[in-house]
Order: sequence, then C-alpha cells, then structure tokens
Amino acid sequence: MQKLVIAIDGPSAAGKSTVGKMLAKKLNYIYIDTGAMYRAIALKLQRNDISLDDLSNIENILKHSTINFIRKNDELRIILDGEDVSPEIRTPLISKMASDASAVPIVRTCLVKMQQEMGEAGGVVMDGRDIGTVVFPGAECKFFLDASLDERARRRFKELQEQGLAVEFSQVRREMEQRDHNDSTRAHSPLRKAVDAISIDTTDLELEAVIQKMWDLIISRYGIRI
Ligand code: DC
Repeated sequence: MQKLVIAIDGPSAAGKSTVGKMLAKKLNYIYIDTGAMYRAIALKLQRNDISLDDLSNIENILKHSTINFIRKNDELRIILDGEDVSPEIRTPLISKMASDASAVPIVRTCLVKMQQEMGEAGGVVMDGRDIGTVVFPGAECKFFLDASLDERARRRFKELQEQGLAVEFSQVRREMEQRDHNDSTRAHSPLRKAVDAISIDTTDLELEAVIQKMWDLIISRYGIRI
C-alpha cells in the first residue's frame, strides 16, 4: 500500500481541518493540524511574556518545547509539554498572536522541521498555509481550499459562540480579514496556492460534497494502491 502525503492549504475557516480529519479517518492516516502548532507556541510565548522581537528567548522556548497530537474520545487534542492546551489555543487573542508569531522566521524554521519529521513516513493528511509549497513540496496530493470572507467569518463566529465566547460578528470578520492579510503578505512562506494544488471553493458546498470531490480525485489517481 502506498502511504501518501496529502497537503491541504488555505485561509482560516475554509474547511481544512474538518475535511482533513474526515479524509484521514477514511484513509486510516494520521492528521496534523499545523495551525494548532503555531497556536501552541504563541500560547507559550504569551504565558512566558516573551515579545516577538526577543529572538533569543523565542529560540530557547522552541528548543524546549514538545508538541504532540493525541486522539481522545474520537477528538484530536494538542499536547504542549505534556499539557492538553486544545481549548486555550482557540481564543481570538491566540488566533492573532499565532498569526504574528508565524511570521517570525525562527518559529517557522523550527515548526516546519517538526512537521517534516511528523510526516516523513507518509500516511499523513497535513493542513496549514505552506504545506504544499514549503513543508512537503513533493506531496503526492495537494489541495487548496478557499471560501468567501463572509462565509468563513460566519463559520468562525458559530464556532466561537459554541465555545460560549461572547463575540460580535463584525469583529470576527474584521479580525479574520486582518489575519488573511498578515498570513498572505508576510515575507516568509506566505499563504499561497502551490502551482500543482487542486483548488476547491467551499463557500456553497456541503462538507460531504467537499470530501467526495477530494476522495474521487485521490482514488482516480491512486486507486486501490492507498
Ligand atoms: O489554521 P489556523 O487558523 O489555526 O492557524 C493559526 C495561524 O498560524 C494562522 O494565522 C497562520 C499560521 N499558520 C502558518 O503560518 N502556517 C501553517 N502551516 C499553519 C498556520
């Protein structure tokens, strides 16, 4: 059986993690949410009150951090230095801090290396911003998911409400627009579609339809070899 690397890139709330998890389950692959890794490091920098220009302390934090993913009650949890930080990394503050921290070259170099090690044996679905362009430019399957800003903001607003956070839709939309701008204009590995990635606009698609499209493409290329 061939163990593929499936890269899924795109902006926030385009549906990457939901379809990535489902695809990984269908294929019996591991799923890695690289955005959660940037969020975990941002959380640690915040807890230690380290600013983004303090490069020597950032380097020290990166050197002494472990990040793992575990499955608990059929949910993916992110473990930072042995602590489950899954809820803490999803706040609007950490979203903004993760976007800022992800523009720092040493943070990227270190997390990209970790991600390459996690995926080197194949059999992995990895989602992020630079998976098909930088982390695994040779990935067999690359997808680029996108959706309109309004639709993505609606999805994020719903998620935050479900977490019990009091937020305004207009603020969620504004922050998402700002983050899109940061992520796609930063100097190092900005969000961009790999030339060989397949684009899917998820604005008006049900989740099942997105998965089906991706699944059909994978099967038509690799058939029973996966
Ligand atoms: O996917 P997300 O919203 O959880 O990602 C959080 C931040 O991390 C996002 O603003 C951009 C950054 N990120 C990145 O630069 N590269 C990745 N591969 C994944 C996320």
